[in-house]
Amino acid sequence: MAREFTSVGVVGLGTMGAGIVEVFARNGIDVVAVEISDAALDRGRANLTGSTDRAVARGKLAEADRDALLARVTFAVGLDALHSVDLVIEAVPEHLDLKQRLFAELDRVCKPEAILATNTSSLSVTEISVATTRPNQVVGIHFFNPAPVMKLVEVVRTVVTSADVVADVEALCGRLGKVDVTISDRAGFIANALLFGYLNHAVDMFESRYATREDIDAAMKLGCGLPMGPLALMDLIGLDTAYEILDTMYRRGGRDRRHAPVPLLKQMVTAGLLGRKSGRGFYTYERPGSPKVVPDEQTPTTTEPARSDAAVTKIGIVGSGTMATGIIEVFATAGYEVVSVTRGAEQSAKVFEAVQTSLNKGVVRGRLSEADRDAALGRINWSATLDHLADVDLVVEAVVEELSVKKALFASLDEICKPGVVLATTTSSLPVIEVAMATQRPADVVGLHFFNPAPAMPLVEIVRTIRTSAETIATAQAVSATLGKTGVVCGDRSGFIVNALLFPYLNDAVRMLEASYSTTDDIDHAMKLGCGYPMGPFELLDVVGLDVALAIQRELYLELREPGFAPAPLLEHLVTAGYLGRKTGRGFRDHTRR
Ligand SMILES: NC(=O)c1ccc[n+]([C@@H]2O[C@H](COP(=O)([O-])OP(=O)(O)OC[C@H]3O[C@@H](n4cnc5c(N)ncnc54)[C@H](O)[C@@H]3O)[C@@H](O)[C@H]2O)c1
Repeated sequence: MAREFTSVGVVGLGTMGAGIVEVFARNGIDVVAVEISDAALDRGRANLTGSTDRAVARGKLAEADRDALLARVTFAVGLDALHSVDLVIEAVPEHLDLKQRLFAELDRVCKPEAILATNTSSLSVTEISVATTRPNQVVGIHFFNPAPVMKLVEVVRTVVTSADVVADVEALCGRLGKVDVTISDRAGFIANALLFGYLNHAVDMFESRYATREDIDAAMKLGCGLPMGPLALMDLIGLDTAYEILDTMYRRGGRDRRHAPVPLLKQMVTAGLLGRKSGRGFYTYERPGSPKVVPDEQTPTTTEPARSDAAVTKIGIVGSGTMATGIIEVFATAGYEVVSVTRGAEQSAKVFEAVQTSLNKGVVRGRLSEADRDAALGRINWSATLDHLADVDLVVEAVVEELSVKKALFASLDEICKPGVVLATTTSSLPVIEVAMATQRPADVVGLHFFNPAPAMPLVEIVRTIRTSAETIATAQAVSATLGKTGVVCGDRSGFIVNALLFPYLNDAVRMLEASYSTTDDIDHAMKLGCGYPMGPFELLDVVGLDVALAIQRELYLELREPGFAPAPLLEHLVTAGYLGRKTGRGFRDHTRR
């Protein structure tokens, strides 16, 4: 018969512990909430009441339910109060020696049949369990931040955890309204193993001034639909906790350099910049514990850019593929006069038809009037010769992704276009400086990386080479704003911001599958329910195309020479086998059987 959990203990009422108390108490379970001192207990109580009060204010919790919830919680200093609980879950700082000492003490205090659980993110549950005389009753119960909101719980089973203990904990997760995945004891489990390399890489981008904190975060939110950017997430996790997790993952996870904490992290922790909980991390918050960001010295000023887009009225767009088609539509609907240059009348006719079809859909869906559609189409001039770009103010190149072709095109644009024109490439993987140097005016060349489908995606990456002028960047920013897109500025490195942060994570998921640590479904669940991602990594890979993912991953690996970026052999094999994702009916999943 399944074990009854009528009362549980939670040790440590910080970022995670207070949330875990709330989860249990909300679901009718009595909680003994323990801290190390009276002051810490007061802070823990304030964490809990702050969260429940916010839930009441947002209409998510009735006042009476809040009062009943709080009445189920007993607060205490010291572990002795835990003598009769059925389960203890600890959420003290991420240090092995601290947790081992705590477990030895819990083993002494708690009744013999009690289950002892750790919320560790990266430490070995096995090493923690052997500090007790009941390692078979020790398990990892890894909640996600914020615990009351995130649906996922990773249940970590060591080689000695009893099967009935695992089954009882899984049943308890169901009672708490959570979705559990059960896995073995490996550094970072599923979600953190996939998340922390990405977070550390984002910190590295910030530290090296590759892009601003706002642009890094906006890029991942708008380019990938993530609920928050990586630096804002680091602030939520807590920089001290994140540092410890990375450090442990580095040591336990095969010394992958991507997990070696970026030096800036240690400096920030030493300086007391711990994120939201201390009121300041990558961002500054209204007060400690507050989720509200307030402006600080790094907040971008809203002064006028060095050059506006007032001078930009006529746009040349070269190419006839998916991206060129979308970009033509974007500029024409935003009111610019467009000159589309393709290789011939046949291509132009196809592009015209595609733009018209897309605009018609907009009319059907009520996003556009018929008159606006006709005006947009009327603003597009169709041509098969670059000479018609002699008087445009901005050229956007979206031809085939081949360096020789792009360089030749830019050399021609240099001959044809009037001086001062901004020349932009939409390349997603080639160095922008290579195409810039094919012209005599590299200061006027910039990357404008649109996302597919261009009319729908709100992000543009503005790529600054070491020769791009500040004026050119300002124009690109102003034009992006006129298009209704968020323009983020970054350096000229493979993958820019989004692909450089996204694809290694996808590749890591493939490696995890390859190592048989977990399944496609559980990994997808973990990222969606634990981190709020709109799609799991395998769902996304099947949509993007495995061949596309492999090509991007290869570029990243070749340019950055990071061993951890080497494409996963399984990805290569699937591509070789023709399993490219949805477009071929099969990738990580079979899409032919519905
Ligand atoms: N922060 C996250 O996003 C997150 C997510 C999942 C899991 N975790 C894990 O949860 C655990 C706690 O992390 P956190 O971010 O909540 O840390 P935190 O620093 O916010 O809170 C830790 C709390 O433990 C208390 N404490 C310290 N020693 C204690 C002791 N001996 N007895 C009782 N209480 C003690 C501290 O006073 C503090 O309130 C870590 O193992 C961490 O890896 C964190």
